[in-house]
Amino acid sequence: MQVIGPLMIEHRLIGRMLALVRLELEGVRRGRPLNPGFVQAAVDFIRVYADRVHHGKEEDLLFRELARKSLTPPDRAAMDELVREHAWARKRAGELAGASERLAGGGSGAADDIAKALLDLVEFYPKHIEREDRRFFPAATAYLSEQEQQAMLREFADFDRGLIHEIYRGLVASLEMARLPGQEPESD
Ligand SMILES: [Fe+2]
Ligand SMILES: [Fe+2]
Repeated sequence: MQVIGPLMIEHRLIGRMLALVRLELEGVRRGRPLNPGFVQAAVDFIRVYADRVHHGKEEDLLFRELARKSLTPPDRAAMDELVREHAWARKRAGELAGASERLAGGGSGAADDIAKALLDLVEFYPKHIEREDRRFFPAATAYLSEQEQQAMLREFADFDRGLIHEIYRGLVASLEMARLPGQEPESD
């Protein structure tokens, strides 16, 4: 498998989630209230899967390796732009998460802020993904030998494996904190 294979498969799952977000926003546009359970799931997906799992592998592994290569100026500019876009998406997802917490607390205006942030992200991701799939990833692959690609695929697997434990350790720690205010969670 080429190194971009897993990233493109992840793009497809992100696309399926975006389709669901679009459906939710369409319902809101027709006057239905936001479904807080869906919002929570979408926030989790965008922050954990799209940003940490997916952008994490792109930035920390693929782009890091490419940064050591002699990229053409257009390819380097394209990579820098993708990193800037990740930063924008991360910030917008953080704002979305903040609004989602306000919604859970009954905050006024939270639903509008959530809908706006979701709309921004739904408009952003397909363009970003298309540029990676059609333009940047094919160019990136040409800089990496077969051996480098196989090594990076193994790093991808290690990255995902480490992250799943980190995510659930964090979840348990936050639940412990919520139950025991003022007490530190157990460290491992
Ligand atoms: Fe990306
Ligand atoms: Fe991507």
